[in-house]
Amino acid sequence: MNTAMPTAAAQKAPASPAQDFLRVEGLGRAFNPQRPVFGGVSFGVARGEFVCIIGHSGCGKTTILNVLAGLDRASTGHVFMDGRELAGPSLERGVVFQGHALMPWLTVRQNIAFAVESRWPDWRRAQVQAQVEKYVAMVGLSGAIDKKPSELSGGMKQRVGIARAFAIEPKMLLLDEPFGALDALTRGTIQDELMAIVQRTQQTVFMITHDVDEAILLADRILLMRNGIELPDGRWRPGGIAESVRVGLPRSRARSTLHHTPGYYELRNHVVDFLVTRAHAV
Ligand SMILES: Nc1ncnc2c1ncn2[C@@H]1O[C@H](COP(=O)(O)OP(=O)(O)O)[C@@H](O)[C@H]1O
Ligand SMILES: [Mg+2]
Repeated sequence: MNTAMPTAAAQKAPASPAQDFLRVEGLGRAFNPQRPVFGGVSFGVARGEFVCIIGHSGCGKTTILNVLAGLDRASTGHVFMDGRELAGPSLERGVVFQGHALMPWLTVRQNIAFAVESRWPDWRRAQVQAQVEKYVAMVGLSGAIDKKPSELSGGMKQRVGIARAFAIEPKMLLLDEPFGALDALTRGTIQDELMAIVQRTQQTVFMITHDVDEAILLADRILLMRNGIELPDGRWRPGGIAESVRVGLPRSRARSTLHHTPGYYELRNHVVDFLVTRAHAV
């Protein structure tokens, strides 16, 4: 049981304010009916808000994201975006997976053009190309636009994935550990890029990460998710959102100075303490 008082940097936030752009209500998913992965998951994401979800492997983060993306169906509960209940995948939501998921036989330009043409089928070729070039430039890859994925580094491929997601101008961006496979240096650079782009575009983002510092750097709010667990009496308690933590640090954040920001360590300790002592606890 954690009894720590919320601090200025880690204030408990209401899980679901009324004006939310995305609303998740009572969501549950069971692959095995006896042992649902999670249940009763309710939270909201405001327009322009950046929400990270953090939790140990297997608690169901990707499953939640897949439901938000329309790639999986929940067993219980509902998801509403912009006042409408979600039904299946839509180009209103842009997804970036952990692996880059680019089509290997297409160039960067063609990969992104494919997405843009799907989103706006009646656009002219020049309009499509302008959109592609704009977002490729945004992630600093103009010089590689006519290369194939096999000619790019891991970091470059992830950038292409990000450019593709932004190029369809989604109402919501869904990111599943998009930097997980990258080395620390590349990861830092792309985090900075993402932060700048999101600030500029006011994009609404839901992102999974297992990196506490990444969450504190990028998020307005962090959802702490606990794993399902077998209780001492043998009953199964599904996983769920244990807490919603507001990141009250000033928005002008930088990786290099984040650890000097007042409130940073309290916030970090709070999240790490959750992962170490509470995420798996009865
Ligand atoms: N299609 C599936 N069929 C059966 N079990 C699944 C399926 N997808 C996920 N799971 C199980 O659901 C749990 C949560 O998985 P996942 O959402 O990938 O967790 P996380 O992303 O938090 O690591 C895991 O125990 C996983 O094995
Ligand atoms: Mg996952």
